[in-house]
Amino acid sequence: MIKNICCIGAGYVGGPTMAVIAQKCPHIKVTVVDLNQDRINAWNHEDLSLLPIYEPGLDAVVGEARGRNLFFSTEVDQAIDEADAIFISVNTPTKTYGVGKGMAADLKYIELCARQIARVAKNDKIVIEKSTLPVRTAQAIKDILDHTGNGVNFQILSNPEFLAEGTAIEDLFAPDRVLIGGDTTPEGQVAISKLVEVYANWVNRENILTTNVWSSELSKLTANAFLAQRVSSINAMSELCEKTGADVNEVAKAIGLDTRIGSKFLKSSVGFGGSCFQKDILNLVYIAKSYGLNEVADYWEQVIIMNDHQKSRFSKNIISTLYNTVSGKKIAFLGWAFKKDTNDTRESAAIYVANDLISEQANIAVFDPKVEADQILFDLNYLETRTEADNKKYISIEKNGYDACNNAHAIAILTEWDEFKTYDWQKIYDNMLKPAFVFDGRNLLNKTELEKIGFIYQAIGS
Ligand code: NAD
Ligand code: UGA
Repeated sequence: MIKNICCIGAGYVGGPTMAVIAQKCPHIKVTVVDLNQDRINAWNHEDLSLLPIYEPGLDAVVGEARGRNLFFSTEVDQAIDEADAIFISVNTPTKTYGVGKGMAADLKYIELCARQIARVAKNDKIVIEKSTLPVRTAQAIKDILDHTGNGVNFQILSNPEFLAEGTAIEDLFAPDRVLIGGDTTPEGQVAISKLVEVYANWVNRENILTTNVWSSELSKLTANAFLAQRVSSINAMSELCEKTGADVNEVAKAIGLDTRIGSKFLKSSVGFGGSCFQKDILNLVYIAKSYGLNEVADYWEQVIIMNDHQKSRFSKNIISTLYNTVSGKKIAFLGWAFKKDTNDTRESAAIYVANDLISEQANIAVFDPKVEADQILFDLNYLETRTEADNKKYISIEKNGYDACNNAHAIAILTEWDEFKTYDWQKIYDNMLKPAFVFDGRNLLNKTELEKIGFIYQAIGS
């Protein structure tokens, strides 16, 4: 029976997943460790509104378990030593150097964890891949662990995480499925059953699926590829809708009623963002190519090509609609996060649209209810399109949506935050330059109401 868990990596996945395990399993001690002292300090912050990530319901879960059986620490060795099961939940970004640059997953953080576990472990441990990893990574982890000098036994399990940001807590409370992959040997099966027992504290056993380790690893990449593909598919149709007079919302509804297709994940948008879809598909493409499966690679790469196109055509449309020049014009951005209910901005479409418009010398005024000003500047600087000083010159960050829209030529909606729907749009219109444009990258607002006020309103796919 697992009584003591260590999780390496206190990020968007490690933090919420371990908080939920701790809340649901008071008999298990859960320690989440990270190298980043600031992040750990924030997880330990007395004021639960200052946790390092914003996620609805997370504060209550942490508030209940922290200090009881949930701990956040930078003492990585100690937590590994004490644990019977170690989750690896570190970041696996796209490689930015060497072979596979821009495509393959960078596994250096995973390897460092494996080596650290190998060095520290003095008794048998179950090591669980929680990070999203290329298929067959468990073999590499096993090779490293089996060469530990301490002569202990390791079982490697794959237990990918399917939570979506913004709904992480509800996803963790009631997952569609928990997937656990392990060795087909008797020892592997014992390890699997020990992890099943942890989840069975709150998840129905029918929803806990066990497979071999490779199927589990590959299922995670496949799930993200299929989800992203749906968004790119509906976005591809949105462009055709704009040319033909069809309305993408009506098309999505019409096809979604077919139970074989289903209605979820058919919302046309300015393009998907987030830390994982692009990274995981690029990784899938790289793996397929490395096996010589070029047609498979090309098929999935098209999902990314379509997404890049969707972001760039949104920017181009703003420029052409504003009479082919945005130079010196103020454009208000409502939203910067990659989706609502999160402060995460990784790969957010807003970053790329802002970058395009700044290249045309537009002045961008951003408001996002949860994203910090420093993060917005960091995201733009990260692209290295121009100097930090130039980025600063063209971007201002506002404390509320109304200020961002004051005296603007146009508003672009980049994130579907609920509060934007309840704004006083008449007041916003009155304080804008005319003609006043709204480019709704999330199909969030009511076209009829906005047009009645006097806005020139453009949505995606209609
Ligand atoms: P993150 O960047 O938010 O967190 C990773 C943390 O690991 C960081 O705080 C980092 O400091 C820490 N870390 C890195 N190396 C370390 C080491 N050697 N020792 C201790 N700490 C170390 O990343 P994330 O969003 O939580 O994603 C983690 C993994 O989960 C990725 O593989 C990702 O693909 C996968 N995933 C993410 C999501 C999501 O919604 N973000 C969902 C499912 C799966
Ligand atoms: C996604 C998956 O949904 C999770 O199952 C997975 O665990 C996670 O990736 C991961 O591996 O990191 P996440 O990126 O947090 O979760 O959020 P999603 O809700 O999937 O949204 C991703 C992007 O697609 C967002 O920018 C969102 O706005 C966009 N999207 C989503 C659309 O444009 N239209 C849709 O219909 C759905």
